Amino acid sequence: MNLLVTGGSGFIGSNFIRHMLNKYPGYRIINLDKLTYAGNPANLRDIENYPRYGFVRGDILEEAVVDVVMSRRPDAIVHFAAQSHVDRSIHSAHDFVRTNIVGTHVLLEAAKKYKIERFVHISTDEVYGSTDEGPFRETDILKPSSPYASSKAASDLLAFSFFKTFNLPVVITRSSNNFGPYQYPEKFISLAITNLIEDKKIPLYGDGRNVRDWLYVLDNCEAIDTVLHKGREGEVYNVGGGNEYPNIDIVTMLLDELGKDESYIEYVEDRPGHDRRYAVDTTKIREEFGWQPKRSFREALRDKIAWYQNNEDWWRPIKSGEFLDYYGKQYQNI
Ligand code: NAD
Ligand code: DAU
Repeated sequence: MNLLVTGGSGFIGSNFIRHMLNKYPGYRIINLDKLTYAGNPANLRDIENYPRYGFVRGDILEEAVVDVVMSRRPDAIVHFAAQSHVDRSIHSAHDFVRTNIVGTHVLLEAAKKYKIERFVHISTDEVYGSTDEGPFRETDILKPSSPYASSKAASDLLAFSFFKTFNLPVVITRSSNNFGPYQYPEKFISLAITNLIEDKKIPLYGDGRNVRDWLYVLDNCEAIDTVLHKGREGEVYNVGGGNEYPNIDIVTMLLDELGKDESYIEYVEDRPGHDRRYAVDTTKIREEFGWQPKRSFREALRDKIAWYQNNEDWWRPIKSGEFLDYYGKQYQNI
């Protein structure tokens, strides 16, 4: 299979590309990534010279660039490229609307033109909004809170419309909060671990009791792999780790693992519109395909801590701001 992966230099995309190339010796992958602040070639350094892997630096908003890549006739698209951080979308929604909605539209049009056999759209549990009660099912209404979540919900609906109207073979995954190696240190667990290593405090929003369901990134990669091959066209598949914890409990675990006390917690002003709890019902993907997360939360969390301890040369330049200058000079647009 020839795959086009968008956003493959980011956190989940890079883990997915490594997973696919190692698992399927016959597969070829082209990674189309703009290398925004979140895209990092170092995420794929170990495999960048594989003959079955190709990288194109380009923007999904640029139709001509997408057309060049699509003219190589990939069998399927796995679409990760997005602006992904909620706090940034609250600060400015502009890039979120452009990349997440308009960029997805550009890809859908190209997929239609080249009669793609499969379009896997990577969405999020945030499109359902917050819940104090049961978990959301795939058929529940969308009630996103942040500009980020709204832009993802809009892209889901657009993708659906291309399935309904043009029979484009779209499949959507909506996963809960991922964690694992190569996650940009603006996201909660990555920020918390790296702050503790730097002997800094962890900023905890509001009362610290917002709940997220944590999913190890390689379990998500397995789910996306499964949906790519077996997912039914026009369907949504929720993907969750079954690891719901209030943020304060995550902090307590990290303090415990890293030998720090509660003085390293700093309660700060809450995020505007902060969703209280995300929860997804994953019965569908479990019953249709037998997918389930393999890693226990605590074991995967320890692995993640060890990865950040052993890869300071990956995250320190990002936190210090050196990263953008360096890579800005190294890569050219096509
Ligand atoms: P990320 O921010 O780490 O990576 C995003 C990647 O997309 C980067 O490599 C970036 O350079 C690239 N990109 C951004 N704009 C682009 C553009 N215009 N053209 C080409 N490339 C562009 O994100 P992530 O955490 O890996 O998330 C990947 C996808 O999964 C996103 O669609 C996100 O909404 C979704 N998702 C993430 C999570 C999570 O917990 N991280 C959970 C559910 C869903
Ligand atoms: O649910 C899936 C979503 O998970 C993805 O779609 C998003 O791309 C991804 O960024 C993530 O969104 P969240 O907003 O849930 O993740 P974040 O890591 O920003 O925050 C997790 C929780 O931790 C949330 O309740 C806010 C809180 N938080 C976050 C940061 C960055 C803090 O208390 N302090 C912080 O400094």
